[in-house]
Amino acid sequence: MGSATDLDQLGLLLKDYPYAVQVLAHIDSTNRWLLEQGSHGMVCVADQQTAGRGRRGRVWQSPQGVNLYLSLRWHFQIQPKHYSWLSLMVAVVVAEVLQRQGVQGHQIKWPNDLYYQGKKFGGILLQTTQRLEQVVVGIGLNVNMEANPEESIDQPWCSLKAITHQTFDRAKLAAELVRELSRYLERFGDLDLDTLLYVWQRWDMLGQRSVLVQASTHTLSGIACGLDSQGRLLVLDNNGTLQAFSSADVSVRL
Ligand code: BTN
Repeated sequence: MGSATDLDQLGLLLKDYPYAVQVLAHIDSTNRWLLEQGSHGMVCVADQQTAGRGRRGRVWQSPQGVNLYLSLRWHFQIQPKHYSWLSLMVAVVVAEVLQRQGVQGHQIKWPNDLYYQGKKFGGILLQTTQRLEQVVVGIGLNVNMEANPEESIDQPWCSLKAITHQTFDRAKLAAELVRELSRYLERFGDLDLDTLLYVWQRWDMLGQRSVLVQASTHTLSGIACGLDSQGRLLVLDNNGTLQAFSSADVSVRL
C-alpha cells in the first residue's frame, strides 16, 4: 500500500453503506477489478490507475493523488425497461451531486461527459459482465488536478479545482457519489421515459446546437435535436433527415 491519502477516510464515511468498499493505492483499472471480483453494491476506489479505461477503447489518464477513480458494481434483478438510459442518468447523478457540493455552470455532453465551458472534467464508463443486468459503473473525475505539461490529455480539460478555485476532499465527494448513485440505482427500474427526458434536458449541453458527429462508420454535421426513447442522440442533417446515434463522438461547432 502507498502512503495515507484523503481517500483512506472513505470506509469510515460509508460505514452505513450496506456493501463492501475497497480503497486501493493503485490498480490498473477499478472497473476491471470490479468486473472480475466484485459483488452486488461493491465499491472500488483507487488513488491511481495505471491503465484507466475510457469510452471507445481510449485511455483515461489517472495520475496519483489528485483525482477520483470510482467504480460501483450493481446487479439488477431484471433488466430495467429503460436500460439504455443508464449511463446518461449516471452522468445526471454526478452532475447533481457536484451542484450540491457548490460546483456551478457544468453540463453533460451526450452521452455522459461532464463539461465546464467547453472543457471536459469527467467521464463515465459502463461495462457489463456476461450477464447484461450486472453492470460496473465507472466514474472518472478530475478533482484537484492542475495543468501539468507531462500529462498528455488529447482534448481541452479542466478540474473541479480549476472551476471552483477550491481543493476537494476526495473521500467526502466519493461517499456522496456512492450514496446518491446507489439510491438512484435502486429506483432506476421504476423511472418512466418522461422523467428521464425531463431530467436530461436540464443538463444537456448540446441543446439545439450545431454539431459534428463522428460515428464508427461516418461523420456528419447537423443540429442536435435531443434524445429519442432509447437515449440515442437525434441530429437533423443538412438534407433535413433526422438521424439517431447510439454511440459517437460529438463536438459543438462554433
Ligand atoms: C470516458 O472516456 O469519458 C470515460 C472515463 C471513465 C474513467 C473511469 S475512472 C474509474 C473507472 N475505471 C476505469 O478504468 N475507467 C473508469
